[in-house]
Amino acid sequence: MKVSSTFLTPFSSTFPLISSILQNHRKPNYIPFRRYSCVTSSSSSSSSSSSSSSSSVTPISHKPQIPLFLRPPIYSTTQPDLHNFITWAKTLASSIGSTFVQIDDGPDSTLLLRELNWFLDDAVEDPLDISHGRSGTSAKRVGLRASLDEMYKLWGSRIQERRPFQYVVGCEHWRDLVLSVEEGVLIPRPETGKIVNLAEEGLKEGGVWADLGTGSGALAIAISRVLGKNGRVLATDLSPVAVSVASYNVERYGLQDSIKVKQGSWFEPLKEFEGQLAGVVSNPPYIPSEDISGLQAEVGKHEPILALDGGVEGLDDLFHLCTRMSIMLKPGGFFVFETNGEKQCKILADYLENVTGNCFRDVTIISDFAGIMRFVTGYRI
Ligand SMILES: C[S@@+](CC[C@H](N)C(=O)[O-])C[C@H]1O[C@@H](n2cnc3c(N)ncnc32)[C@H](O)[C@@H]1O
Repeated sequence: MKVSSTFLTPFSSTFPLISSILQNHRKPNYIPFRRYSCVTSSSSSSSSSSSSSSSSVTPISHKPQIPLFLRPPIYSTTQPDLHNFITWAKTLASSIGSTFVQIDDGPDSTLLLRELNWFLDDAVEDPLDISHGRSGTSAKRVGLRASLDEMYKLWGSRIQERRPFQYVVGCEHWRDLVLSVEEGVLIPRPETGKIVNLAEEGLKEGGVWADLGTGSGALAIAISRVLGKNGRVLATDLSPVAVSVASYNVERYGLQDSIKVKQGSWFEPLKEFEGQLAGVVSNPPYIPSEDISGLQAEVGKHEPILALDGGVEGLDDLFHLCTRMSIMLKPGGFFVFETNGEKQCKILADYLENVTGNCFRDVTIISDFAGIMRFVTGYRI
């Protein structure tokens, strides 16, 4: 096993999922999405009629939610009423102080107040209306993307229920993408983006790549954009909500001809590609079951358990994927897996080198942006 010294640091991780939710670096520029058009049952059925079809959609009854910033400004209020809302929302956020930090390393008021600004940016049609304060006039209507009642409920849920900010506004900024997310779908974390960088060398070869446990479709979309016309991506997830949201995101980026999203367990929907995959990426559930109850409320109470719980040691899904990968990857095929940290990386690398029957070469452990051993990469012999 190689450990890439470039990225190595002496400390190990606890839970990247917990800390990274606090680092939601809001990028100022939204990528303009095409306007929402629902994935209809007719488009679903035509795309799923043949498993070798190039379309992306498996029929799923769940209708994905539209992110707040993409909704039309069909509601309105007065400037004084908006001012009252802002005063109430600021008071609520400020009242938290460092209480959540002390409970479970959650957000403090400074971060919550920053989120409130982002929330207003998404909900209010004209940013100039946000700054009017008491001087605002009742005569002028302020355009809103959610009713004022809904805005009270949404912001209340952020503070009182510790609902993740990304679920409140319905999207997350990840790498250069803006991805729709909602309850039932993991919010993609910054560190996972490094998987795309690690795969870049292999992606030059093109071919068919698989993103297993695609969630919002983040990795599948990012990888497809690097692959371009050189290849395509098969994305799987067991969760129907994830499949629906990933399909929506794929459509928003106009990649439905390059990415096929399939519902099913890991490689199971990809049987016809046995021995043909040029690359496999996955960020599977890897938190040990007994650690779930100690997670930050935003994560443990709101994000899907299916995306978090990796069994007793957190390695159940990683072991399964590694075993099956020896059959699914073609010779020379590349893989990247995300793990919980140093211990899992070492166990997995050892498993790949010694237990899977000499199928893999150049197994390497690579650290994330914070210097925590996070990824295991390698090639099929
Ligand atoms: C940690 S999340 C990663 C989501 C996404 N790839 C990302 O990085 O943001 C793990 C994903 O695996 C999915 N999953 C869990 N068990 C699965 C299974 N047996 N087969 C396929 N997907 C599964 C979950 O629904 C979840 O979307």
